Amino acid sequence: MPDIIERLRQELGSKSVLTRDDAALEDYGVDESGLGPYPADCAALCETAEQVDIVLALANDTNTPVTPRGAGSGKVGGALPIRGGIVLSTERMQSIIEINEDDLVAVVQPGVITGDLQTAVEAQGLFYPPDPASLEYCSIGGNAAANAGGPRAFKYGVTREYILGMEVSLMSQERLRFGRRTSKGVTGYDMVAGFVGSEGTFGVSTELTLRLLPKPPAVQTLLAIFPTLADAGTAIGSLLKDGFRPRTMELMDKTAIDTVREMNGSPIPPGTDAAALIEIDGLEEGLDEALMRMGMSIDEAGATDVLVAQNDLERRRLWQARRLVSSSLTAACRHKVSEDICVPRGKMIEMIRRVESLGDEFPFAVACYGHAGDGNLHVNILCDEDPTQPEVERQLEAVTRKLFEHTMALRGTLSGEHGIGLTKRDYMPMEQGPALLAWQRKWKAMWDPKDLLNPGKVLPLVPRTCNE
Ligand code: LAC
Ligand code: ZN
Repeated sequence: MPDIIERLRQELGSKSVLTRDDAALEDYGVDESGLGPYPADCAALCETAEQVDIVLALANDTNTPVTPRGAGSGKVGGALPIRGGIVLSTERMQSIIEINEDDLVAVVQPGVITGDLQTAVEAQGLFYPPDPASLEYCSIGGNAAANAGGPRAFKYGVTREYILGMEVSLMSQERLRFGRRTSKGVTGYDMVAGFVGSEGTFGVSTELTLRLLPKPPAVQTLLAIFPTLADAGTAIGSLLKDGFRPRTMELMDKTAIDTVREMNGSPIPPGTDAAALIEIDGLEEGLDEALMRMGMSIDEAGATDVLVAQNDLERRRLWQARRLVSSSLTAACRHKVSEDICVPRGKMIEMIRRVESLGDEFPFAVACYGHAGDGNLHVNILCDEDPTQPEVERQLEAVTRKLFEHTMALRGTLSGEHGIGLTKRDYMPMEQGPALLAWQRKWKAMWDPKDLLNPGKVLPLVPRTCNE
């Protein structure tokens, strides 16, 4: 390793390489999964595509594991250097290269913070819809790697819908550009679809061409309060049947609401058992009327109260209460397991009931919130014991497996938006059969034959035979 570090210093400059002598290296061994720390040997803080090429080439030539990392906001351990080696960080690749209002595209480096891009495009009357809850600190490259979602995905779709083209650096010492700048295009295979969501196991993005939309001129936000989470879910279902298409339909249960209040304060009235945060957007004309009709529809569907944000400040405070759910729950317990299962829309109420039953069956509190419009529920298992104690570990594994069994029984999927990474890797066979996993292994091997790029993620490990 000393030779590799020396080479990296020569190529990138010593200020761009962190080693075990630097306390800051520790930050590169953790993410928001709560796992680790996994100590890397060094971190290469790349600033250009050429530097990314150099790091990958060096890793390949020296058989050194290399783990790409965006902002480290992932929930599933996707950025953890579980085999040591090099962490390749794109956090310094922060340039917004172009915002083009005629073509409705932005071209960015992968380290651009999602919220910064949104601010920049909105200043020009444009709109980049994907809004992961961590948008103030997550990066576009990481969003692409995980195919991140967010509240607005219900109306606007996930990150995949907004990536038109990519430039990626490969282990083969090539840099490839694929996709396009046009809003449509079917030339050749859809390489973007293959890379988005591949969690940094195929290549490292060095530039992204993003689709923009015109910014919706008006937005209205309301918070509806319900006696139970299932009631809130039912009301959301009836809104859709009434023909509404809000841009967000977020659910929060009592544990989520109360924990945010305790940790950070909240505009949601104390005593609220379940709430839905619903937002509509569109032209100014007619939006107030749509809001009123929606409020009535929610009322009829069983809401006990409906609060409408009167201005931007109130809207921001409501969203803050929603965006802080995950970090507040993390801070409130010793160890948190964060799941993000997704079920077909029509099965959401049944899934909520099954999630609630987990809290009775296992010795953990369970919080449930998330993107109800998409059937995507964040189920957080809150553990106050030491998670490395064998019995606690066994129970955590059992509750997670049970959650996934319920999800599979309802024809759902293990991850709606956070990805598989390390935490869900070994549960993959619950959803996907051996043939499908084997084809994905071949796909991975095509891009990274030596299994050095983000090794040990996404696909379950292949059991070795005695002769190996
Ligand atoms: C959220 C993150 C956890 O929606 O995905 O809050
Ligand atoms: Zn989410």
